[in-house]
Amino acid sequence: MKDRLILSIKQKFISKFNSVPILVFSPGRINLIGEHTDYNDGFVFPAAIDKGIVAAIHYSDEHFSSVIAYDVNEQLDFSLEHIQSLKKGGWKNYVLGVVAEIRKKDKHLGNFKLVFGGNIPIGAGLSSSAALENSIVYSLNELFQLGLTKKEMIAISQKAEHNYVGVKCGIMDQYASMFGVKNSALLLDCRHIKATNFKIDFKDYDILLINTNVKHSLAESVYNERRATCEKIVSLLNIKSLRDASEIDLLSIKDQIPEEDYQKVLYVIQENQRVFEASKAVQNNDIKLLGKLFYDSHHGLQHQYQVSCDELDFLVEATKDNDTIIGARMMGSGFGGCTINLIKKGDILDFSNFIKEAFKNKFKTDCNIYNVNLSQGTYLIKS
Ligand code: GLA
Repeated sequence: MKDRLILSIKQKFISKFNSVPILVFSPGRINLIGEHTDYNDGFVFPAAIDKGIVAAIHYSDEHFSSVIAYDVNEQLDFSLEHIQSLKKGGWKNYVLGVVAEIRKKDKHLGNFKLVFGGNIPIGAGLSSSAALENSIVYSLNELFQLGLTKKEMIAISQKAEHNYVGVKCGIMDQYASMFGVKNSALLLDCRHIKATNFKIDFKDYDILLINTNVKHSLAESVYNERRATCEKIVSLLNIKSLRDASEIDLLSIKDQIPEEDYQKVLYVIQENQRVFEASKAVQNNDIKLLGKLFYDSHHGLQHQYQVSCDELDFLVEATKDNDTIIGARMMGSGFGGCTINLIKKGDILDFSNFIKEAFKNKFKTDCNIYNVNLSQGTYLIKS
């Protein structure tokens, strides 16, 4: 599938621009556990997947740069000298943001032409945005030999999202998409931006993603609100970030803060703990324990951190009296997107039929099911 994608982007580029491009693949990601912990300097356990974005790039002789989004058949022409984020710019702001952030680093960019397209469902919580940002920065780095390290590139991708899209995201998505390792998840320390690779054998189980196909409109504003709540408590506790807080510290200010904020921060502290437990479970081949931690994480996201929604809760709940699934939770920022499930190999078809029908009965819309493999991070495609 990936090969077909690469070929079609390459062909589109050649037919449109009449030159042979440099090609880059940048994957989306899943997250086993550790949700809303990254911007608290905490720990996450993501992996790059075998779905992603292909970017084809070459120099341009024009006095402007051109980017084509193949899947939606849209084109953006812009001058490197006058970059501004666009109202309702969608994908364009990710591109413009990355270019603007590179320029802030005093790196010389010439004009370029680029075509990108992919096979990650948009808005599914699989980080199509990080894949896009990374594909742009990586391909520009290659084309203009900018000498950026991978760490510098993911910082650029993240800033593009902060400053041009307006989401104050953490570093998990960009890191996983850039540094992913085949068949492995990355236990990432988001303060030191350092990861340990865990080769994963899910034994008799497989990862299954179920996409609610919804993205509730409050998703972005609530994301920034949650971050602000965490920062408020950080300053009350006089610490650097919630990573440094213990449950005892939090108890010491319990009567000074609303119960809702207490629960949110408690969730973050406990979720960090779960990330460690999950990595140990993987090390010990205890996939059942990993599944239990999925359920605990979802419970916290639903009731304490309050970023779930009816569709996600329904999908998780529906797995509970089904012993073919040993763990399920919402994945990513919340208010829509996918659940991640640990399902017994061989039962995928039966379960998929069951859940599709149940979801349709309840919400009168379809959910989608994906199988993914843990894969390599962003790379140059050798021609
Ligand atoms: C989004 C953000 C990440 C992270 C997750 C929640 O995917 O981009 O930085 O905060 O939400 O874990």
